Amino acid sequence: MERVYLDHAATTPLDPEVFEVMKPYLLEEYGNASSVHQMGRRARVAMEEARERVAGCLGAEPSEIVFTSGGTEADNLALKGVLGAASTGSEAGLVTSTAEHKAVLEPARRMSEQGRPVALLSPDTHGAVTPEQVEAAIEEETALVSLMHTNNEIGVQNDIPAVARVCDEHDVLLHCDAVQAAGLQPLDVEDLGVDLLSLSGHKFYGPKGIGVLYVRNGVDLGPLVEGGSQERDRRGGTQNVAGAIGLAEALERAVAEAEERAERLSRLQRRLVEGLDDAVPGPYVCNTPLDEAPVAPHVVNVAFPPVEEEPLDGEMLILNLDMQGVLVSAGSACTSGALEPSHVLTAIGLDRSTAAAAVRFSLGAKTTEPDIDEALDTLHSTLQRMR
Ligand SMILES: Cc1ncc(COP(=O)(O)O)c(C=O)c1O
Repeated sequence: MERVYLDHAATTPLDPEVFEVMKPYLLEEYGNASSVHQMGRRARVAMEEARERVAGCLGAEPSEIVFTSGGTEADNLALKGVLGAASTGSEAGLVTSTAEHKAVLEPARRMSEQGRPVALLSPDTHGAVTPEQVEAAIEEETALVSLMHTNNEIGVQNDIPAVARVCDEHDVLLHCDAVQAAGLQPLDVEDLGVDLLSLSGHKFYGPKGIGVLYVRNGVDLGPLVEGGSQERDRRGGTQNVAGAIGLAEALERAVAEAEERAERLSRLQRRLVEGLDDAVPGPYVCNTPLDEAPVAPHVVNVAFPPVEEEPLDGEMLILNLDMQGVLVSAGSACTSGALEPSHVLTAIGLDRSTAAAAVRFSLGAKTTEPDIDEALDTLHSTLQRMR
């Protein structure tokens, strides 16, 4: 059975050419970039070259790039690093939204429990947060706004430059989780106007276990991981040289091809959305509003409301699609055995049973038109059987 992988928002395969560039640093040039001997020095040079290349892709300075273990750590470092270091101490406040990734929401929840002022904005029915909402939520004590570029579940995008102008006017820092945007959207930090930006290597055909936090020069950022002076005291621990090189290589390729990739994926995305009417027997809600809001080209989220009060089992739908060779994600996260409806889908107003029966198709570099047609056919037969 042919496998149709439509879960690129979860992860992408490592580009074999990226792997070739990484290989020498895993097998031969394995020195620790902090060692003073020749192998260490060569590793350090490679690390700094990777940093320069990443900075070049983002329109940043190399000193503004902090390598992390991935997107989750980059988000945590942004929030905890900025607010922990803020001169107003525990009074420094955060503004974010209920549609963010858990890598932002969980630290925000903990901070709020610890008494820090945290404003959680509700997105509109499409899933976006407006600059006006951000402006209204900024208080005297607000030190940081954290807003994602592209939502990982539904693909809807926020107007980051407009939010940046608001933050600038109020002298508040802006962090942007751009994990789902890299390789598909231009990510020049000056054009976006952000002070901090998170990326993750494995979302754009780079390796897993490496991410980046861009931190504008002059932003006071405390460390999250302590125990070494690496990354200019902002992230202790032996540096992942091969990972950094792989991320830099993958990011350069992604940036160079972003426009072409986005155009191709947009066509496939439309084919998928337009095929839903025929594929779905019964009601459905397309949560990726192609013509109504700015959306990323790689995600289509569809939810299935109950029919005659009979809810559809979302997890079973994913497993059935998997058995037919179509690999997708649910719009829900399975926490300790209990299937919780997605916080993003409930945030945009879906009822719990509809939100619990959602499928996220996410397309990638190797996705073809026949893959989309196969996914639609399989969705059709699976839903017919399940209903
Ligand atoms: C928007 C967003 N932020 C953060 C993350 C976390 O990234 P990582 O898997 O590298 O920890 C993800 C991963 O799915 C994501 O989609």
